[in-house]
Amino acid sequence: MTARKIFVTTALPYANGNFHIGHIMEYIQADTWVRAQRMQGNAVNFVGADDAHGAPIMIAAEKAGKTPQQFVADIAAGRKQYLDGFHIAFDNWSNTDSPENHELSQQIYLDLKAAGFIETRTIEQFFDPEKNMFLPDRFIKGECPRCHAKDQYGDNCEVCSSVYAPTDLINPYSALSGAKPVLKTSEHFFFKLSDPRAVEFLTEWTQNGQHVQPEVAAKIKEWFGTRTNPDGTTSEGLDDWDISRDAPYFGIEIPDAPGKYFYVWLDAPVGYLASLKNLLNKRGEDYDAYMADPQLEQYHFIGKDIITFHTLFWPAMLKFSGRKTPTKICVHGFMTVNNGEKMSKSRGTGLDPLKYLALGMNPEWLRYYLGAKLNGKNEDIDFNPEDFMARVNSDLIGKYVNIASRAAGFIFKRFGGKLGEVSADGQALLAQLREQAGPIVAAYEARDTARAVRETMLLCDRVNSYVDANKPWELAKQEGMEARLQDVCTTCIEAFRILTIYLKPILPQVAAEVARFLIVPPEQFAEVAQPLGAGHQIGQYQHLMQRVTQEQLDALFEPPAPVVEKAIPGGEEIAPTITIDDFAKVDLRIAKIVKCEAVEGSTKLLRLTLDVGEGQTRNVFSGIASMYKPEDLQGKLTVMVANLAPRKMKFGLSEGMVLAASHADEKAHPGIFVLEPFPGAQPGMRIH
Ligand code: 2FM
Ligand code: ZN
Repeated sequence: MTARKIFVTTALPYANGNFHIGHIMEYIQADTWVRAQRMQGNAVNFVGADDAHGAPIMIAAEKAGKTPQQFVADIAAGRKQYLDGFHIAFDNWSNTDSPENHELSQQIYLDLKAAGFIETRTIEQFFDPEKNMFLPDRFIKGECPRCHAKDQYGDNCEVCSSVYAPTDLINPYSALSGAKPVLKTSEHFFFKLSDPRAVEFLTEWTQNGQHVQPEVAAKIKEWFGTRTNPDGTTSEGLDDWDISRDAPYFGIEIPDAPGKYFYVWLDAPVGYLASLKNLLNKRGEDYDAYMADPQLEQYHFIGKDIITFHTLFWPAMLKFSGRKTPTKICVHGFMTVNNGEKMSKSRGTGLDPLKYLALGMNPEWLRYYLGAKLNGKNEDIDFNPEDFMARVNSDLIGKYVNIASRAAGFIFKRFGGKLGEVSADGQALLAQLREQAGPIVAAYEARDTARAVRETMLLCDRVNSYVDANKPWELAKQEGMEARLQDVCTTCIEAFRILTIYLKPILPQVAAEVARFLIVPPEQFAEVAQPLGAGHQIGQYQHLMQRVTQEQLDALFEPPAPVVEKAIPGGEEIAPTITIDDFAKVDLRIAKIVKCEAVEGSTKLLRLTLDVGEGQTRNVFSGIASMYKPEDLQGKLTVMVANLAPRKMKFGLSEGMVLAASHADEKAHPGIFVLEPFPGAQPGMRIH
């Protein structure tokens, strides 16, 4: 059989947060599958990347006082400890702001445009009147128009997974300012999924039983039927997809459309190809030739919250830009802890992966536990500490690891580490073990690691029954039973090697340690057929794995000590650092309030006539009427920005600004306080 050529990805995590257990679960699932493929001799490229673009990251970077690029790079620097920590071996980790992704995304867009799938339309979009910007989908919240879940984001519902326009939300509000957003028009670019060609292709692609699990296909089918729109009308088929966003936006510019960027979900999946291209470039291999191979298989592992993007938009983008479509979209459910709250990407809670590692808990316990639970279906799985302990201690260690510890000592002490002949009963047992290679490999292929583990544990039971029946510890005490002791222990070691091969995709480190002690590197599934053989020398057995303790589990789920919140002075973070030259640009002067009057028609403003020693006065409006009566201020000294560009206001020209202090949350901390200098200051003096 010729080796398969496979390209595998996991969903690209947003670069504005660390990994949580949901990410780790997905990566372990994919990593296990990749390892199982390689053990069949298949050639796999397994890539990941950070999903760098989008308004949330732009806003988070701004808040952190960093460029988006720096912000993303800092998050990326934290990835390795998780991946290495859980033995997750991507071949490459890139990010969607890479040159490869800019180029590929723009090319795919141009190809779609040439095929007649792009259309521009003027749409009304939510605009935050307080922040003065179009609101990104993730910063508009409201009630889901389909299932009526509250506090859902503007692009899709985390409860019912439907995808909609932010304007469909019921009672929307800006998550940036809390303001009620207003509608403003803007020209947007659309990917015409309503095109009959797209509908026809996607109906076939999603429903032909080849590319998605049956339960996923059934869900997708609902999206093709007649739908009731939020306004009560009904639609058939698919809606066009809005793929552009207006500046300011951290993303990839749309060719020939200044100020317009691809919506992050357009270039995110292209990041799969870009990371692969980046990897092949580094290796000096040709990306186009690699992709052109019709035998190449393309697998994407994703969570159930992003099915739409991966089973409709992404295959359609590839198909109609003239590219290879994915072979399979492998959807998994969410992970819960103790039947608790789901651990979605945005609300990761419960089991902190770094804490797990810091407690010295073995990463392969978790790999085994997840492997024992994941069955390749789109189902949620629960992390239950008692179940975890039972599976690790009773099954993994009690049934599997113990086989080695029961036999290796005798071989080492009594036979100088040399294996002996295996007699007929041992051969029969080993044959039973070998017979399961096919079903176990098939279970891995179907991502049904639960079945692979179950089958392997049943085999462990058989080996343990053999040990119990032959009692090597008694044979060791009986005279003349040397040969039988070596035979029984050799059978156990041969069996243990086979079982290790079956578990290797899940337990790569254990397998590497077993390889050291057996002095043979088990690499491929096919090697189950080749016994080590009489005379093979093994090394000294060292205990392969500790048991998990109740203390470790208690510590893992112990709530973190309450964090003493860093005080935020005045309700807002200190602004990003400026240089002394920046400060020198602001000309602050002592000003005398020579006159102060109420402003007719305004309850907020006072009109100040200020003397800054220029030989003439200035007129300044200030929003301090709630705190001061005109007579409180008249004749006093204060501080003003003297070189602020004059601003035309409803009540006249304002020629500067008076300095006053207030809390960011004016409702909770009302009050605005005008500055007054110490005695001795004179009008016109500059403040340095
Ligand atoms: O849901 C998410 O976390 C997205 N960042 C996944 C993107 S997957 C792919 F399209 F890049
Ligand atoms: Zn919903």
